[in-house]
Amino acid sequence: MHSKPSIPEYGTSALIYDHVALNAVESTNEEAKKLAIAGAPAGTIVTAVSQRSGRGRVGRKWTSPPGNLYTSLVLRPRRPLSEVGSLSLVAALAIGHTLGNLLSYVDNWQLKWPNDVLVDGAKISGVLAESEINEAGQLAWVVIGMGINVEITPEIADRPVTSLKKQGLEVTVDVVFRKLQENFRALYEVWERDGFEGVKLDWVSHAQGLGCPVYMHLAKTVITGNFVDLGSDGAIIIEDKEGTRHRVLAGDVMLAH
Ligand code: BTN
Repeated sequence: MHSKPSIPEYGTSALIYDHVALNAVESTNEEAKKLAIAGAPAGTIVTAVSQRSGRGRVGRKWTSPPGNLYTSLVLRPRRPLSEVGSLSLVAALAIGHTLGNLLSYVDNWQLKWPNDVLVDGAKISGVLAESEINEAGQLAWVVIGMGINVEITPEIADRPVTSLKKQGLEVTVDVVFRKLQENFRALYEVWERDGFEGVKLDWVSHAQGLGCPVYMHLAKTVITGNFVDLGSDGAIIIEDKEGTRHRVLAGDVMLAH
């Protein structure tokens, strides 16, 4: 098991934000992607009051009425392509710290690999990262979309869901947005310098199910074992009962009860 570090002090990144504030959009990720394709610099950030076609991971819908935070950030990372997947874990960690800053009972937020944020075991936020590789095989841009339930608690099938309001906190979307920018900016600076290794200890100290039996459905198989660690690229590492370690970069991890 990993020992729990004290809350880390992160620096302040040189990433400058250009904020594009919109009203009702299809999806802030779509807006940010258009800007990225048109050459918008790293740090361009889109927010919207609501989304008509908010999207979640693996083609899921993200219900997006006014009252919650919808934001997508354009980044042009300089880390190796193989590490870029870990950026969505960094975003989840920034969201977690933001909730920790806003809620008085700081320690009850958790991260469900790869990038769900939970409060009291219920989902309060999600991250959707999308990217483009150019003809030279290099990363052109990444868009990190983040949604946080502030006032409204939309239902998600078969999962407990919560919001800041449901947790007893009356706060504006704008306050949450500003705090999130600060936290993301600071973590991104560490990630750009040191990769996921720079924030991994912090991440695992909030990981749901670390050290516990879990299972994951992959395309052709199911992996069952203990969630023992994360790789330096953010992959989950599951050790099966024969002692074989499986590294998985994408999927939904489930706690085995
Ligand atoms: C998930 O948990 O499945 C990811 C949810 C991501 C939702 C955010 S809201 C802002 C951005 N725009 C979208 O259409 N999706 C992301």
